[in-house]
Amino acid sequence: MSVGADHLIQQSVDLTAFNTLRIRAVARYFVAARSLLELQRARQWARQRQVECVLIGGGSNVVLAGDVAGLVILIMIRGRRWETIDDDRATLVLGAGENWHESVLYAAGSGYRGIENLALIPGSAGAAPVQNIGAYGVELRDTLAYVQAVEWRTGRLITFSGEECRFAYRDSLFKQEPGHYVIVNLALTLSRSRPLSLGYGELAEYFSSADSANTLAPLAVAEGVMAIRRRKLPDPAVLPNVGSFFKNPVVCESDWLSLKARYPGIVAFPVAEGFKLAAGWLIDQCGWKGFRDERVGVHSRQALVLVNHGGGSGRDVLALAQRIRENVAETFGVSLEMEPRVIAPRGADGPDFRSGL
Ligand code: EPU
Repeated sequence: MSVGADHLIQQSVDLTAFNTLRIRAVARYFVAARSLLELQRARQWARQRQVECVLIGGGSNVVLAGDVAGLVILIMIRGRRWETIDDDRATLVLGAGENWHESVLYAAGSGYRGIENLALIPGSAGAAPVQNIGAYGVELRDTLAYVQAVEWRTGRLITFSGEECRFAYRDSLFKQEPGHYVIVNLALTLSRSRPLSLGYGELAEYFSSADSANTLAPLAVAEGVMAIRRRKLPDPAVLPNVGSFFKNPVVCESDWLSLKARYPGIVAFPVAEGFKLAAGWLIDQCGWKGFRDERVGVHSRQALVLVNHGGGSGRDVLALAQRIRENVAETFGVSLEMEPRVIAPRGADGPDFRSGL
């Protein structure tokens, strides 16, 4: 049996199928790692040749801004298993390469609550902790027990508790220190009886008061979330996108008050640090909703989602994002931060545009 990785490595691989914006970019080297062992071998291979590595999971939160000169590693480590805690609770351990949405349906279909509000979020399970995915009042951190990741510099397998993951809104240790860790497993603590979270506006409207909150099956909640998402968010398989392109910005109370005085219709939610503004509303007010610039554009039902109508490049998408950011900054004095990770050739347009291992 070969212990090297040469037989796993492919050359000049088109990445169009591996990113949900369907941007064409070519990886000089490419490997699909189906196990921790294959991942370690790929790491060794790259180290021996001093080849830079770029990681891709479901490809649903990346913008490819050019060809990749190094090794693209696609994490395909599968596996789901339960560890029972007691009559009510169990831990679901997921391989990083499992599909997130299928895992949600699997957990909810087994009668376990905790992640049903996160249905239909595209991407892999391993990507979920990176940006602490969230929707309809629930975030991954609410149920996360631990994450196992390879420390890329040393090859060590490290287990991080939820607290050690330093989760924040669309943020984590793994996002703050890009390239340091490669997630291989994550474990979620789910429960048959924890209260459902149905308070978020659209979800509360969807489930009428006749649905007694705590008697709904978690799968019914997941189905409600799917119906709501389908109303506004484009299916990446039909209209390529990466979900929200910007984070909802948080401003301090005095900024919020002056914005509210000038724009009474502004949408915001109080959070610990101040007020979280709906970026979709800000972009919408600037008239971008439904905008199309040949190959790329802004979704017609959710201004926070940029779309690729076909043949758009990463540069096209980033140029549009920049125009939107400038327009929102001029109009409202609010700075928008991009949500997806940008993968660009070394030396391209400064440090924000790099994201390698
Ligand atoms: N709005 C507009 N115009 C728009 C879009 C939104 O006026 O074009 C207004 C809506 O009417 C609503 C408010 O903005 O009053 C918020 O909109 P929405 O409920 O659609 O949620 P969001 O803040 O735009 C966030 C997440 C989504 C998540 C939803 C539901 C972020 C960056 N985005 O969007 O996450 O699904 O809440 O919980 O926090 C993602 O991260 O990729 C994503 C889709």
